[in-house]
Amino acid sequence: MVSPSAPIGVFDSGIGGLTVARELMRQLPDESIIYFGDTARVPYGPKSPDTVRRYSREITSYLRDRGVKAVVVACNTATAHALSALREEQPIPVIGVVEPGARAAVAASRGKIGVIGTLGTIQSGAYERAIRALAPETRIVARACPLFVPLVEEGWLDHRATRLVADEYLAPFAAEHVEALVLGCTHYPLLKPLIAEVLGSGVALIDSAEQTAAETRRVLEERGLLAPRNGRPTRDWVASDAPQQFLRMAERFLGAPIHGVETHTLG
Ligand code: DGL
Repeated sequence: MVSPSAPIGVFDSGIGGLTVARELMRQLPDESIIYFGDTARVPYGPKSPDTVRRYSREITSYLRDRGVKAVVVACNTATAHALSALREEQPIPVIGVVEPGARAAVAASRGKIGVIGTLGTIQSGAYERAIRALAPETRIVARACPLFVPLVEEGWLDHRATRLVADEYLAPFAAEHVEALVLGCTHYPLLKPLIAEVLGSGVALIDSAEQTAAETRRVLEERGLLAPRNGRPTRDWVASDAPQQFLRMAERFLGAPIHGVETHTLG
């Protein structure tokens, strides 16, 4: 039996999932969190579904060993390739980022939705399936935007090079007049202001981090697993490599200082 005061495990291929962790901390301030960033094996975007599934299983089993009560797969690529396997295999709740993002996009559009993500996420068709399950008639325009990840990691959130790349990547969405664009990669919420400028205010930008945190609350509530109010939430940060670099980037993603990053090697 897992206890409501046990931590939530959150994982990503690296630091991008911290956009989800930040939202979890904002919406569920009483929850303890163990975040695992697989910095030794990032990026997941171009890797095969089998490899991403294997990595996701290893991380989930590490988080379970640390006693988590639920796992949030805070990576679109890992959600696309591994969520259903993890849900079948794990007795605890496993929450992904795709369904919550799809739901928000359907709510924000009148039938034309754009999706951007890594190569793996776009090729998997996971967002198309999730959107069509909710609104079968939706017209969906999907495009992989692999260069956005290194640009964000470089901190070039408003750099002219990033703007040029964004103009190129986003042109089909402007041409198709999509009403909502799913930011289907953990790094993209950091580019929200730039993307909003390129596409204009008529396009709703769907940040799955917010939706995923809300979904996590719903699932925990449903299972009677919400942390007690007066507990003392802990925050543990674990990286599979280069903890100092993780720390620096994490502070940028979280917009707040963090104290100490553990290293844990997998595989
Ligand atoms: N975290 C990944 C995602 O959301 C992006 C970075 C990567 O390719 O590993 O898809």
